[in-house]
Amino acid sequence: MMPTCEIIYILLMLSCVLGQRTTCFCDLNIGLCDVNCCCDTEDCSTSDIETFTCLVPLTNADTLHCVYDQVVFVNNIAQTQTVRQNGLFCIEVDNFATRNMYTSPACISSDTCFDDIGQIYFYNVSTNVPQATESFYQSGDIVYTIFNNSNAQSMLILPSSGVSNVCQDNNPVKYLSNESNSCTRSSSDLMTSCNTDYSLDFAFYAEGFKIVPSPSLLNLTGNSEILFNDTELVSISASCTLNNINTTECLSPVYNATTTQCENVVTSATYTIGTNGTNGISSVDLQIDLSMIGEASFPLTQQFAINFVSIQNTGTVLQLSGNPGYLVGRPLLTAVCDSAGVPQSFNSNPNVGVTLVTPTATGLCSASEALTRQAILFGQDQTTGCMTALSTSTCQQIQQEIFATLDGQIFNQNGSVCIGSYGNTTDLTSTADWTQVIKADSESILISVTETNTGCQNMILSSVYEILFANAGNISDPQPKVVGARYSYGNPQFLQFRCIGGNCDRGTNQQRVEISTSVTFIDISETPVSLETQRPTIEAKLPNDFFSPFKDSVPVN
Ligand SMILES: *[C@@H]1O[C@H](CO)[C@@H](O)[C@H](O)[C@H]1NC(C)=O
Ligand SMILES: *[C@@H]1O[C@H](CO)[C@@H](O)[C@H](O)[C@H]1NC(C)=O
Ligand SMILES: *[C@@H]1O[C@H](CO)[C@@H](O)[C@H](O)[C@H]1NC(C)=O
Ligand SMILES: *[C@@H]1O[C@H](CO)[C@@H](O)[C@H](O)[C@H]1NC(C)=O
Ligand SMILES: *[C@@H]1O[C@H](CO)[C@@H](O)[C@H](O)[C@H]1NC(C)=O
Ligand SMILES: *[C@@H]1O[C@H](CO)[C@@H](O)[C@H](O)[C@H]1NC(C)=O
Ligand SMILES: *[C@@H]1O[C@H](CO)[C@@H](O)[C@H](O)[C@H]1NC(C)=O
Ligand SMILES: *[C@@H]1O[C@H](CO)[C@@H](O)[C@H](O)[C@H]1NC(C)=O
Ligand SMILES: *[C@@H]1O[C@H](CO)[C@@H](O)[C@H](O)[C@H]1NC(C)=O
Ligand SMILES: *[C@@H]1O[C@H](CO)[C@@H](O)[C@H](O)[C@H]1NC(C)=O
Ligand SMILES: *[C@@H]1O[C@H](CO)[C@@H](O)[C@H](O)[C@H]1NC(C)=O
Repeated sequence: MMPTCEIIYILLMLSCVLGQRTTCFCDLNIGLCDVNCCCDTEDCSTSDIETFTCLVPLTNADTLHCVYDQVVFVNNIAQTQTVRQNGLFCIEVDNFATRNMYTSPACISSDTCFDDIGQIYFYNVSTNVPQATESFYQSGDIVYTIFNNSNAQSMLILPSSGVSNVCQDNNPVKYLSNESNSCTRSSSDLMTSCNTDYSLDFAFYAEGFKIVPSPSLLNLTGNSEILFNDTELVSISASCTLNNINTTECLSPVYNATTTQCENVVTSATYTIGTNGTNGISSVDLQIDLSMIGEASFPLTQQFAINFVSIQNTGTVLQLSGNPGYLVGRPLLTAVCDSAGVPQSFNSNPNVGVTLVTPTATGLCSASEALTRQAILFGQDQTTGCMTALSTSTCQQIQQEIFATLDGQIFNQNGSVCIGSYGNTTDLTSTADWTQVIKADSESILISVTETNTGCQNMILSSVYEILFANAGNISDPQPKVVGARYSYGNPQFLQFRCIGGNCDRGTNQQRVEISTSVTFIDISETPVSLETQRPTIEAKLPNDFFSPFKDSVPVN
């Protein structure tokens, strides 16, 4: 028998040069310290980083490429071999590292490429569980408080809704984790609640306790305890608005028998916690809104929020959508390009980039799109729709108005639209980092729109973005990259007028038509192929008669 199988493996078991990623994958705000991002050393101080629970990039591959050892049934060469449990045979050293890198598909710049599209893969995500520490707060820790009542130690809470919508006053705040909740309070009798319900009183959220700036303060020796009057504790600095007007002091609820209303009821409370690296909490501000409410306002909805702000962060912030590959849920980065696809200006507002229509409260398409269109978020397929009122104009004019609404502002300029290939693409001078959106020609469609007695023929009422992306880089840490994008229109259809004839005025008749936009993300990652070297040819330096008497049936080349 000829030895062939093991040769393939031996070639993989030589030396290798390890490639390390250099970008900081979690640095998504340039100019701002990203919480829990330990490689963001440009914006975070070392003392900030000490308080973080470091994020680690998710990897999802077994770098040893184990196979069942039955697969390797011939193995007659001396070498090291790891056999894991279940009898797996693993590659310990890989001298062909590029086999583990995604191959990049060519950027898709023509319409036809879209029709040859491959399969879809999914990746799982996991979450981090933070651990408490004692010498300083770390992200995810509870925040300690000391009460004026017998110096009792407790923790800062932010009311939240439980299973029902009713407020629960037992939700601990997590250090460096912003949160906002809304929940309801009930009342059986307004006068009693007004006079006795602590949850309607600002003092419950602001007074009678102080914040422990760092848990190291609680590390006391002997019988001593930290006292409420300790000057190191941080007091809550509360400011109130009363019926949306700033007041000089915060007031507790009072029942007004004349108006049968309860005055000074808390409707929202927002904590802003200033943090200073390992020094912990340096300030606590509380903004409270007080309102006058009547019996009918119950169940009363209260809003609560807490924001952690590092006092070391200053300057302007540029938001990225991933570093380098896109993160699911982050907006696509866009730029206005000239017709040749050369980027001209970076579009910093995702709501005016490549966007979908959104309805207003009445269901109509909104007129002021910059504020109300919906950004396209990476990896999230969506369809949105809204109603547009037909004008009295000709069918072609109606179609033009519909095109303008579907396309959005960014296409209404004379240039074209480009999408950043990576979630960190910000360099306009690098054309290769931008993918031009292939747009259907609306002018040629417009020509086929014709008017009949009963309606408009060949009308376009929908459009779709198709975004092709592929994973790049190491298969153990895929970095999604946009490689192509197309914007096209739905099938032409007949739009029937609801009223016809001379007496009918389509404008005053308020006929409405639904239009829709959608986006679909298509993964065209090419699976890394197991490239194997050619089987070496065996040079048979053997005596001519070695295989005799089998010479004729065993080919030797
Ligand atoms: C791919 O990632 C793995 C695990 O992070 C690493 O061990 C390996 O060296 C990387 N390969 C290349 C070619 O960078
Ligand atoms: C990914 O998640 C799915 C559904 O939660 C689960 O069935 C599957 O086992 C997970 N795969 C891995 C590799 O963890
Ligand atoms: C607590 O205090 C003791 C004695 O003062 C000290 O040795 C120890 O390191 C402190 N622990 C922390 C976590 O700071
Ligand atoms: C604690 O503070 C609350 C709210 O300010 C106040 O009503 C109460 O009298 C204080 N208790 C003590 C023991 O000082
Ligand atoms: C703090 O209060 C305790 C008693 O509660 C008192 O003995 C101590 O002198 C006070 N300290 C200060 C700095 O006021
Ligand atoms: C109320 O106070 C806030 C914060 O001090 C300030 O920004 C705001 O302008 C004030 N509003 C009015 C109406 O005075
Ligand atoms: C009750 O409301 C009326 C009308 O706003 C006001 O004139 C009166 O002073 C209020 N009473 C109290 C006790 O605040
Ligand atoms: C923040 O911490 C630094 C030391 O790390 C200290 O010098 C500075 O005074 C602190 N700032 C505040 C406002 O506490
Ligand atoms: C928390 O909120 C503050 C203020 O809105 C913001 O500056 C900060 O980036 C937020 N932190 C996180 C981790 O989102
Ligand atoms: C984006 O990531 C790439 C690849 O790691 C890196 O070369 C580039 O410098 C990054 N760009 C920015 C603006 O961070
Ligand atoms: C749009 O056209 C104007 C005038 O023709 C030109 O100056 C401008 O550069 C064009 N804009 C783009 C983005 O191509």
